[in-house]
Amino acid sequence: MSTSHENELMDLQTWLRAATGRLAEAGVPSPRADGEHLAGHLLHLGRGELVAAAVRGRGLDAGELKGLENLLVQREQRVPLQHLTGTAVFRSLDLSVGPGVFIPRPETEVVAGAAIDELLRVIAACSEAEAVAVDLCTGSGAIALAVAVEVPAATVLAVERDPMAVAWAQRNVTALAPRVVLSQGDVADRILDEWSGRIDVVVANPPYIPQAMRPIDPEVHLHDPDLALYGGGADGLRVPAQVVSAAQRLLRPGGLLVMEHGDAQGAGARRLCRAQIWDDVDTLQDLTGRDRVLVARRTRDEVPR
Ligand SMILES: C[S@@+](CC[C@H](N)C(=O)[O-])C[C@H]1O[C@@H](n2cnc3c(N)ncnc32)[C@H](O)[C@@H]1O
Repeated sequence: MSTSHENELMDLQTWLRAATGRLAEAGVPSPRADGEHLAGHLLHLGRGELVAAAVRGRGLDAGELKGLENLLVQREQRVPLQHLTGTAVFRSLDLSVGPGVFIPRPETEVVAGAAIDELLRVIAACSEAEAVAVDLCTGSGAIALAVAVEVPAATVLAVERDPMAVAWAQRNVTALAPRVVLSQGDVADRILDEWSGRIDVVVANPPYIPQAMRPIDPEVHLHDPDLALYGGGADGLRVPAQVVSAAQRLLRPGGLLVMEHGDAQGAGARRLCRAQIWDDVDTLQDLTGRDRVLVARRTRDEVPR
């Protein structure tokens, strides 16, 4: 009499051990976790369910093994885990990502958090007023969507230059928060002109890597779009400077700019905020004490835009 075990060629635990070894050999920084994510993705199991299934001795049939091998080979070649699973976690969201769009990073969750805190403060301070946020350089829509989901009372606008990224952002907007108003545009142009002087929070994670500094990880330099990485100019601050100029025009008096930058760019980013336009120019640090986020408040005085 045949049993279901006859079709099983290897058990999950053995596969996970072998996958961890192969991914470590390929230089993947978190080999066990990546192996678990790939297996969980293919077998449609959450992380806890996967670990439990492995402990209980779940077997793998030929079809499952073939699918897992296909994913493992790509991950060994340093295709990003998120491209293989099709999703990236950002705050409370599962975003769709893939080739042609920047994969949102955990450090950017702090940037979104600062924008969210400010919007909640604005809404609490004047209950009748509408709070409006703009995410410049939105990529997959990560920051805009986190803001929209966590601050349901806010109007959220998002701008992105790259048509491929816009397509990913549109997919995420449709799935997660259709009220986000997404548009294709270049921060160097006079985008969102109808909103000039009316925005409460401008938030951005623009490209900021200097041209000569190629990121080490193959997942980044081979798979994140160049337009998402390199900020332009020797210091990488050309696009960030355009974001600051756009924020200067878009923000209402007293509105807040929150912008991510590289850990060596704190002073350079602060210098982008001219003293007569900006108050309270400051830098937020990450958990390891490195400069990562520019915050600046547009002066409450009326100044020419
Ligand atoms: C570092 S990625 C950040 C994406 C997203 N905000 C996030 O945090 O995951 C920078 C994004 O800015 C876009 N971008 C680059 N230059 C731009 C420009 N001049 N105007 C608008 N978007 C631009 C890129 O296409 C990319 O999607």
